[in-house]
Amino acid sequence: MKDILSELEDRRATARLGGGERRIEAQHGRGKLTARERIDLLLDEASFEEFDMFVAHRCVDFGMEKQRPAGDGVVTGWGTINGRMVYVFSQDFTVFGGSLSETHAQKICKIMDMAMQNGAPVIGINDSGGARIQEGVASLAGYAEVFQRNIMASGVVPQISLVMGPCAGGAVYSPAMTDFIFMVKDSSYMFVTGPDVVKTVTNEVVTAEELGGAITHTKKSSVADGAFENDVEALAEVRRLVDFLPLSNREKPPVRPFFDEAKRVENSLDTLVPENPNTPYDMKELIVKLADEGDFYEIQEDYAKNIITGFVRLEGQTVGVVANQPMVLAGCLDIDSSRKAARFVRFCDAFEIPILTLVDVPGFLPGTSQEYGGVIKHGAKLLFAYGEATVPKVTVITRKAYGGAYDVMASKHLRGDFNYAWPTAEIAVMGAKGAVEIIHRADLGDADKIAAHTAEYEERFANPFVAAEKGFIDEVIFPHNTRMRVCRAFASLRNKKLQNPWKKHDNIPL
Ligand code: HXC
Repeated sequence: MKDILSELEDRRATARLGGGERRIEAQHGRGKLTARERIDLLLDEASFEEFDMFVAHRCVDFGMEKQRPAGDGVVTGWGTINGRMVYVFSQDFTVFGGSLSETHAQKICKIMDMAMQNGAPVIGINDSGGARIQEGVASLAGYAEVFQRNIMASGVVPQISLVMGPCAGGAVYSPAMTDFIFMVKDSSYMFVTGPDVVKTVTNEVVTAEELGGAITHTKKSSVADGAFENDVEALAEVRRLVDFLPLSNREKPPVRPFFDEAKRVENSLDTLVPENPNTPYDMKELIVKLADEGDFYEIQEDYAKNIITGFVRLEGQTVGVVANQPMVLAGCLDIDSSRKAARFVRFCDAFEIPILTLVDVPGFLPGTSQEYGGVIKHGAKLLFAYGEATVPKVTVITRKAYGGAYDVMASKHLRGDFNYAWPTAEIAVMGAKGAVEIIHRADLGDADKIAAHTAEYEERFANPFVAAEKGFIDEVIFPHNTRMRVCRAFASLRNKKLQNPWKKHDNIPL
């Protein structure tokens, strides 16, 4: 018996070493942690339960039968993050470069199936040279099996990808279909075709980092949702994100203990909006002042900064925030911000996370680049996402809500539950100057008349009361009471039930 026990111990020790000491050192030398070290940091101490530690590949080509390391280049299992269950796979670059074989894929599929069945998120740590070259089409089939599960799991359990090394070719499409992608600066990259192929085909010379590094994907392409300095920071931040999320679509978002008065008055908000309607102010200040303990988890912080998306808690309950940012492009909606916010709104709706929308939007960004780029279709994404969302929706207009953008930003007409406005709100088809130039074109040569018309328009429309008279705004609130009003609104919506008509699925303008 003793021999059998020690044999098990030996086998486990060998499996834990993955590709061996030399390759582990090389991994550390690149500033990367190993697959197991990453799992240890991601999960609560000693909570990891491993599956398939002894799975080995079945390939007999190219002498592969002589090297059959236990685990086959990926560590899989489940554990907890602050006591809540998650499934995890972590590719082991020290074993065949973390490349994906038929059996490697089967291990990932097994935990994805369990996650969907048992209702817990899947966190994938990607560090791989792609398809296991020696296995050919068996490897491609394995990828497709994973893709299919990514699709089936979408909207059922949260899926989070950490890219912590290479992720290239078709392999990128698994993370691409997950809800969030986080990357590590200088040690991870994602691209469909690498720098060598790019050089051959287009003659462009570009490094892997420039083509598909963390900065590229968080600032330019928006493929990734966050870029971190190193593995440790990325893993800690994913733990923080998981705390905000429900475990599956069968659950309400978590309600955690909170140490912040719902009635907290923020007098400084009474002066947040500047006197001059064209002077910007930082919408993040409002978000942080509304949130429990000022805790805000921002998603896509570095992309389309004219809109802010992320999670806060109000009275302990997770709430998704979408807010125009007057500091960037005056808070206009454009292609990038519409896409960014639409995806976020759909994530929240899929997982029953209520949405708080903070509005200061002068309209859609004009220009040929916007029109040629399809701002009509992209803007429609956000409109569609808000309109189909059945979660509690609370909206606060702080200043401008002009034109179509007023409608889009979770207005009453898109089934907003509580639509509040600050006294500084201006809800109108457009700003006074533009409006006067159109409706009083005949007076354009007469500065006095134009000034009078402008003053008249401002008096009539540059306020929230016309909309409030019609019931489109439920209440004009004091800025200093916003936290209390918003908390009470969401509290009253905890049992909201709203269903869209049956359909196979919708046809959102993609
Ligand atoms: C098998 C692989 C491998 C692969 C790396 N290795 N990639 N083994 N299949 N795809 C092995 C190497 O032989 C080496 O083994 C070890 O992993 C580490 O690789 P190195 O090249 O020494 O590491 P590094 O210099 O850091 O380079 C990493 C790399 C490079 C950039 C990822 O290995 C590389 O270019 N690999 C091939 C990438 C690729 O073309 N993959 C297929 C893409 S197509 P030893 O024993 O020496 O340690 C694809 C399609 C997916 O993925 C389609 C889905 C639909």
